[in-house]
Order: sequence, then C-alpha cells, then structure tokens
Amino acid sequence: MTDRKRTALVTGATSGIGKAITVALAGAGFEVIALGRSVSALEKMQAIDGVRPLALDLTDREALAAALDNEDIDVLINNAGVIPPVVPFDQMDQSDIDAVFEVNLSAAIALTRLVVPGMMARKCGHLFFTGSTAGQASFPNMAVYGASKAAISGFAAALRCDLSGAHVRVTEIVAGRVETNLYKDVLNDSTRADMYSAFDALQPDDVASMVLTVLNMPAHVDVTRFDILPTAQFVGGGGFARKEN
Ligand SMILES: NC(=O)c1ccc[n+]([C@@H]2O[C@H](COP(=O)([O-])OP(=O)(O)OC[C@H]3O[C@@H](n4cnc5c(N)ncnc54)[C@H](OP(=O)(O)O)[C@@H]3O)[C@@H](O)[C@H]2O)c1
Repeated sequence: MTDRKRTALVTGATSGIGKAITVALAGAGFEVIALGRSVSALEKMQAIDGVRPLALDLTDREALAAALDNEDIDVLINNAGVIPPVVPFDQMDQSDIDAVFEVNLSAAIALTRLVVPGMMARKCGHLFFTGSTAGQASFPNMAVYGASKAAISGFAAALRCDLSGAHVRVTEIVAGRVETNLYKDVLNDSTRADMYSAFDALQPDDVASMVLTVLNMPAHVDVTRFDILPTAQFVGGGGFARKEN
C-alpha cells in the first residue's frame, strides 16, 4: 500500500447496507466512491467527508469502464442488489429474472474484472461480495434470487483460488435479514413491518461494522466469508425461530 489515501468503491451506496458501509469506510479514512443510480440520495451523501458520488447504472458496462479508467481501487464492495417479486417461480416474468442476474451477478463480475488487474499489479486489494442466506439454503418464492446469490457465492470462492498468491483478499458477506429498502417494491409496508418486527432484524450498521473488522485484519489474514444473521433467525425449515416475548 502506498501513502496515498486508500480508495474504496461501494456499489449500492445509496441505501441500506451499502450506504452504511460507505459511511463507515469514509469514517475510517478511505476515499469512498459511492455508486448508485439515485441522484438525490447521492447528493445527500456528497456532504459526508471522504465520499465521492458516482451516479451510474451498474449494468451500463461502457459507462462503468469509463468512470473507473483512472481509479486505483483498493477495496471493492460488490453490494448492489435487487430482489424480484416474491412469488412462486412459475408466476415470475422473464424480464424480472433477467434483471436479477444482470445486477446481482453479471454486473458484479464485470466490475470485478475491471478492478482486479490493478489490485494484482499493486499486490494489494480486498474484494467483498454481498451474498445472502438465500444463496446458502432454500426459501419458498426465492428460487431466482437464491440462485443469483448462490452463484455469486460460488464465484467469490473460485475467484479466491485464481487470486492465490496475488495478495488480494476475497470476502463473501452472507447476510440474513437486514432492515433496508430491499423489499420496498415487492412487499407492502405492513408485510415488511411484520417481517422486521417479528424478530430483531439486523441494521445496516451491524454489517458495516463487521466489514471494518474484516478489513482491519492483518494483510496475511483473509476472512473468506462471514455469516451475519439476527440472533433469532435460523436458516432452513422456514427461516425464523419463534421470538420470545
Ligand atoms: N436486506 C436484506 O435482508 C439482505 C439480506 C441478504 C443480502 N442482502 C443483499 O444486500 C445487498 C444490499 O441490499 P440492501 O438490503 O441494502 O437493499 P437496498 O436498501 O434496496 O439497497 C440496494 C442498493 O442497490 C442499488 N442498485 C440496485 N440496482 C442497481 C443498479 N442497476 N445500478 C446501481 N445500483 C443499483 C440501489 O441503488 P439505486 O436504487 O440508487 O440504484 C441501492 O443502493 C443486496 O445485494 C442484497 O441482495 C440483503
């Protein structure tokens, strides 16, 4: 690592987990490129010392490559994600299926491809991927979302093999239920409120603080994956334990 300020790129920085990670990294002294589509959200984040907004649709490959042309990214947080309507597979639209894989998988891989050569040349870097418990276990009405998260999990693990000896760390974040805007467009407000209030859902800051902990490990230590769930959540068999009053 040189003396220059370390640069992090966070996708999905306008909301939820990515926003919390952006704030945490800026607070830790990183220059953070905060990527998202929402211009109004990015304008608000501009006020945070160390945050540099990048208004971009992650699926626009040319714009992405142009924007990162002269950037040395030390830490990449591949976090942007979408969830399709929570319905049985046979009721899904093909366009929703395509959009999930485009954002949750293909865009993350394309972005990683842009960033990895520089990390390898500098012999230093850390790649994070926001996976999900839905990629590790089966949930009803989540076949496509779960498949996208299982795929990014497999990609992250295999990428680590390819990067062996390159001094680039890879970490998958396996997140359980976190109270964010993820389900805003696919579930109504009362269903979302029930989902989060049925147990003590994680807050985005909980995930961000683990990211900082992992980043701050010595360079020879790679936390390859961490699972972070609400204490009341288990994975499999329906997903949630009864909450004691
Ligand atoms: N919340 C949970 O319970 C949970 C659990 C496990 C894993 N996850 C994963 O955590 C990650 C973050 O989600 P979240 O829960 O924080 O949800 P969120 O609050 O809805 O945030 C999603 C972020 O992704 C960005 N995004 C979506 N499509 C994009 C595109 N085409 N180009 C650029 N940015 C795009 C959004 O920004 P713009 O709208 O501004 O583009 C937003 O900042 C996702 O990968 C999600 O699958 C969430």
